[in-house]
Amino acid sequence: MVYDERSDDYSIKTINLAKSFRKKRHKGVFGFLKRGNEKEKSETTDVTVALDNVNLGVRTGELFGLLGPNGAGKTTLVKCLSTILIPDDGTAIINGFDIRRQTTLVRASLGMVIGGERTLYWKLTARDNLMYFASLYKMPRKRIKERVDELLGTMNLLDRADERLEDYSTGMRQKVAIARALLHDPPVLLLDEPTLGLDPTFSRQIRNQIRELSRKEGKTVLLATHYMKEADELCDRIAIINEGKIVAVDTSDQLKAMVKETELVEVICYNPPQNVEEYLKALCPDVEIITLIRGEEAKGTPSRIKLIGGNAEKRISTVIDALRKKNTQITSLNISMPTLEDVFIKLTGAKLTEGSMGAGQ
Ligand SMILES: Nc1ncnc2c1ncn2[C@@H]1O[C@H](COP(=O)(O)OP(=O)(O)OP(=O)(O)O)[C@@H](O)[C@H]1O
Ligand SMILES: [Mg+2]
Repeated sequence: MVYDERSDDYSIKTINLAKSFRKKRHKGVFGFLKRGNEKEKSETTDVTVALDNVNLGVRTGELFGLLGPNGAGKTTLVKCLSTILIPDDGTAIINGFDIRRQTTLVRASLGMVIGGERTLYWKLTARDNLMYFASLYKMPRKRIKERVDELLGTMNLLDRADERLEDYSTGMRQKVAIARALLHDPPVLLLDEPTLGLDPTFSRQIRNQIRELSRKEGKTVLLATHYMKEADELCDRIAIINEGKIVAVDTSDQLKAMVKETELVEVICYNPPQNVEEYLKALCPDVEIITLIRGEEAKGTPSRIKLIGGNAEKRISTVIDALRKKNTQITSLNISMPTLEDVFIKLTGAKLTEGSMGAGQ
């Protein structure tokens, strides 16, 4: 079934899912040297709320992004959904089965790529890895062989299938990890950072595979990522997660519309009319701010008109026509659209630290 945005048929649904981690603070290598107060402090327990009452619904056939910075709770959510971790509170329903009470049926319903390559056998070939994992699914022997060949083909690995994984690149191992998740043809896929650390070519190939799995095979995909571009490019809808809380869920366009005041049009020109601000304001009432920065035109420095707010695409032709009527020579035009990062900053009030939410390759 292909994703239908009006559908209320959910393949993944979380209900008040909560998970905290308690850990004794490590004394450190030189802990034995500490005395008195210091010693007490070094033994206190920290509590990290990794998931704070998460309620999410991923519709059947949907490619759904879980976007958040490092430590936001993405992997914890994927691990709870896949029954690797038991939540403290709440539950989730996968393909109609409860992750607490029906673990076997939940596991049979999903394929998972988590930390990818580390869960494969490096001393075995790609084919043997897949044959081994397929045998765990108790598929008939003939079907196993067919399925493994099919998946090696899909992942473009047939010509290298009989090399050991230790001789593979990171990207190739990641493809094997995805192939393994698909062996039993599960309706639901949980992908945790599937392109992490891959070069642009491999990332693109893997993104294309994910898109095909969703569009052509109708799989329901939950894609956890901190690459905004990846979420933007692939996902039907995106949930933004920060410090264990879901702060927004919508399509990429709708999320960006929340910060439309950051849309900026800049017109670089010579000879703008005297009253250009009022003149353009009358024509584009939705624009919030119009400013003119006059350049020293006689010396060759153009003037700049900045328009902030409203819908950039809609107003651009009005602005060009209006300025031409007044004999303004436009030399260039810049439009900057809001990004998911703008949305993130608006929703969380947090400026992202360098590298925590990269643009992706
Ligand atoms: N086993 C654990 N023991 C203690 N704390 C943990 C454990 N697993 C996760 N945490 C904490 O829970 C929070 C969420 O971690 P999680 O791995 O889910 O984040 P993430 O969104 O996947 O981050 P990243 O983008 O870095 O993979 C973090 O503060 C992390 O330190
Ligand atoms: Mg993670």
